[in-house]
Amino acid sequence: MRKPIIAGNWKMNKTPAEAVALVKGLIPLVADAKCDVVVCPPSVCLPAVAEAIRGTNVKLGAQNVHFAASGAYTGELSAEMLKAVGCEYVIVGHSERRQYFGETDKTVNLRATAAVKAGLTAIICVGELKDERVDGYTNAIVTYQVQMALKGLTAEELDHVVVAYEPVWAIGTGLTATDEQANETIGVVRRAIAAVYGDDAAQKVRIQYGGSMKGANVKGLMAQPEIDGGLIGGASLKAADFAEVVNF
Ligand code: PGA
Repeated sequence: MRKPIIAGNWKMNKTPAEAVALVKGLIPLVADAKCDVVVCPPSVCLPAVAEAIRGTNVKLGAQNVHFAASGAYTGELSAEMLKAVGCEYVIVGHSERRQYFGETDKTVNLRATAAVKAGLTAIICVGELKDERVDGYTNAIVTYQVQMALKGLTAEELDHVVVAYEPVWAIGTGLTATDEQANETIGVVRRAIAAVYGDDAAQKVRIQYGGSMKGANVKGLMAQPEIDGGLIGGASLKAADFAEVVNF
């Protein structure tokens, strides 16, 4: 009942010209995709990529959004700005933002709220560090992160939320959670949503897995009942690699 969604997070890779070349290579390869397909290039590439995907099934997302409508926030972009250049999605709370740029559960909540209120779909990232998993805190961490990120949103607004469960130790490392680990923790995320919004609402939320997802492991992960898609870093930077994931 939940339509899968595969999103590519290009992180700090590609100039506008390179981004257009990548997405133009991708478009014919994913034209028959049964899932929603999203690409999240760097901000400076958004207008050019928006132009290149016009009329196709590929959708546009940004990698972050600020919570204010405008103002003295050097280096930040508002939800309205992102919408104005064609974004429908935005990643919020990626672990790299949390680790390197001081994002907290509070700022993730503010950013997600601003995105959703503006009509963007927020792809909210949660996930535990290696030590937290080893010490047995995974379920507590992801429960806290997802409930804090959604704080203040209504059940209706969850229509504009996708959650990405990304174990931090699996991002960019080549290590992947096993199919069962990913499914189990995504189940925990779903129950954390259900605890606040009820079962029906939680059953409708799409929850992706992220962390070294690629052609070689996508089938096993997507066969799991709780996993509704993927947030893909490294394997989204080549059209053929990303298409392999999309066409799982
Ligand atoms: P990865 O990145 O696929 O390169 O592990 C995933 C992510 O950071 O979203």
